[in-house]
Amino acid sequence: LFIGVDLGTSAVKLLLMDEAGDIKKIVSREYPLYFPKPGWSEQHPEDWYEQSVEGIKELTAECDRNEIAGISFGGQMHGLVILDEQDRVIRPAILWNDGRTTEETDYLNEEIGKERLSEYTANIAFTGFTAPKILWVKNKEPENFARIKKIMLPKDYLAYKLSGTFCSDYSDASGMLLMDVEGKCWSKEMMEICGITEEQLPKLFESYEVVGNLKPEIAKELGLPDGVKVIAGAGDNAAAAVGTGTVGDGRCNISLGTSGTIFISSKKFGVDKYNALHSFAHADGYYHLMGCMLSAASCNKWWAEDILKTNDFASEQSGIDKLGENHVYYLPYLMGERSPHNDPYARSTFIGMTMDTTREEMTQAVLEGVAFALRDSLEVAKSLGIHIERTKICGGGAKSPLWKKMIANIMNLKVDVIESEEGPVLGGAILAAVGCGAYPSVEAAAEKLVKVVDTVEPEPELTAKYEERYQRFKKIYPAVKGLFR
Ligand code: XUL
Repeated sequence: LFIGVDLGTSAVKLLLMDEAGDIKKIVSREYPLYFPKPGWSEQHPEDWYEQSVEGIKELTAECDRNEIAGISFGGQMHGLVILDEQDRVIRPAILWNDGRTTEETDYLNEEIGKERLSEYTANIAFTGFTAPKILWVKNKEPENFARIKKIMLPKDYLAYKLSGTFCSDYSDASGMLLMDVEGKCWSKEMMEICGITEEQLPKLFESYEVVGNLKPEIAKELGLPDGVKVIAGAGDNAAAAVGTGTVGDGRCNISLGTSGTIFISSKKFGVDKYNALHSFAHADGYYHLMGCMLSAASCNKWWAEDILKTNDFASEQSGIDKLGENHVYYLPYLMGERSPHNDPYARSTFIGMTMDTTREEMTQAVLEGVAFALRDSLEVAKSLGIHIERTKICGGGAKSPLWKKMIANIMNLKVDVIESEEGPVLGGAILAAVGCGAYPSVEAAAEKLVKVVDTVEPEPELTAKYEERYQRFKKIYPAVKGLFR
């Protein structure tokens, strides 16, 4: 049996899978997310660990624990976790959707220069990336900076606590802006720019490699046998891609989680010359390009739960019947936006309401706005000559048939629906299975374990209507850009 752990932004999800790919159980445990100032986003690593440990106990409560062979992870990317000499967490983790580092990001992109950053790492700086956060701590909290002994990413904190190995994997480490993505090693230049040394950074592994075993005292606490392997795991998007079979060359996955991403796998290293898409290593040993929007399913959650005061998403969407005809538009930039605008000051907007605008139309606009914004990243991929005809989909938002239909028609893609849309947590379990030798490679495992059960086809009439809407949507951000600075 293999355990997958997805260390998400709103909760940790855990999944138990056998060698044949049968999912035995899934559990999920929430922890708080803090917004101490507008645009800031933090969590306590101790909460992640506590809930993960409780989650493992709950997940394995009914199975024969002696059969558990390995555990691996998908984790929210880019978050900065810093530990001191005694392995104590120095300050709350600064998360991927935190926008506080505008000064540091500008310094990197403008003074160091995008060209050099791209040469050292394959990417430019975005406020959510880890290197600008390290610089922020250096500039704004020098006493904390001076105490840093170890720098790690969220899921690596779990791996460290569970195995004692200070490690990361290439896919997740790509998002730190400290790694030479093509060469798969830490960049000396970036370490120097950030004022850190290689001793402070984790040892790098492929996502499917074993980093160690569960510490004996932890195995005992969890009731697990000796020798359970801990496998490096991946950033949540790479893990999700594994879980949806988006491995090898030229495949696409869309994730509708707190963030929204479009992920394109590639056997060859490549860089987006416009720097709108990230160029990262993949969990299958190769590479990928990715566009990331900071608020996707979280827009729907915010709109339904915080504003309409309902968590019955299905009934809220049930009255939507005029696809392609909505005159209300919504910009989904609740936390600023990463791809493709790279604008931490972007904000959400409803536009186009009239006296007869209904609640359904506003809900529809939120769902459409997210799909239009994902299309923005798809357009960048197309401009690089990448041809995509179909995509997989995963994440909480993928549970909505309506949203899938909108994605298919707004993006003009065939959406392949897979048996389990669990994404990152399933990817984690698959990486554990590969690490334990149950499959010879990530590609072989994904081939065997991921099954397409349905396809949502774009409908030409609807696609044409949405094309016209998208051309209008595209004009809104440039018109309001700069208003919220
Ligand atoms: C990717 C990104 C997000 C987080 C969400 O670059 O920032 O998708 O990984 O957990």
